[in-house]
Amino acid sequence: MYYKKYEGKRIYLSPMNIEDYKIYTKWLNDETLSRGLGSMKLLFSELAEKEWIERESKSDNFNFSIIDKNSDTMIGSYGLELKDQVSKRYHVGGFIGEKEDRGKGYGTEALELVTKFAFEILNANTLFSGIYAFNEASLKAAKKAGYKVAGKFREAYYYNGEYYDEYMVEITKKDYLKHRKSKELVRV
Ligand SMILES: CC(C)(COP(=O)(O)OP(=O)(O)OC[C@H]1O[C@@H](n2cnc3c(N)ncnc32)[C@H](O)[C@@H]1OP(=O)(O)O)[C@@H](O)C(=O)NCCC(=O)NCCS
Repeated sequence: MYYKKYEGKRIYLSPMNIEDYKIYTKWLNDETLSRGLGSMKLLFSELAEKEWIERESKSDNFNFSIIDKNSDTMIGSYGLELKDQVSKRYHVGGFIGEKEDRGKGYGTEALELVTKFAFEILNANTLFSGIYAFNEASLKAAKKAGYKVAGKFREAYYYNGEYYDEYMVEITKKDYLKHRKSKELVRV
């Protein structure tokens, strides 16, 4: 069962659902997805996934299922993890589960919607994320959502026999408000 917690154009955010542990297990064991998350070294079992969802559902983190409005089906997951309560700083991350659903703008829209939720509902001050250098789609989506590259860790991720750099991207509330304004101007 999904709930329209926060609505975008084509998608809405619903609290992560325990009944979805099998689909998460399938997605997280898919190399095309897990290489982007840096989780190739981990085995995701159904039991571990079920327990993780249960644990996370009771935590202070915001784990959302990304739901396609047309079909009311889950197409991905995005989350916000509070890193510092005083500075109101959050880590943001997520994915679009099926290969066929990627490259259709859903990842950008999901990141934009979660970013909007963070600034306009949670009153966050900064959000950040790490993106591996090979992940062109993720870097583009972040820039479209108003994030800026803050720097780069060299050879931060070993995958498939090679080291890859990791970009750190971030957005402040001021950046977000400017970005929101520029998008409103384009729409007018
Ligand atoms: C990264 C991810 C969330 C992006 O979502 P998406 O829905 O596929 O991306 P979008 O369709 O919104 O596209 C964003 C931009 O990347 C481009 N893009 C999409 N797929 C691409 C690809 N395979 N290679 C290069 N660019 C790509 C799009 O053209 C778009 O740019 P544009 O607006 O200039 O045309 C998604 O691909 C994914 O879940 N990947 C696996 C897990 C992962 O890497 N998560 C992110 C960890 S940081």
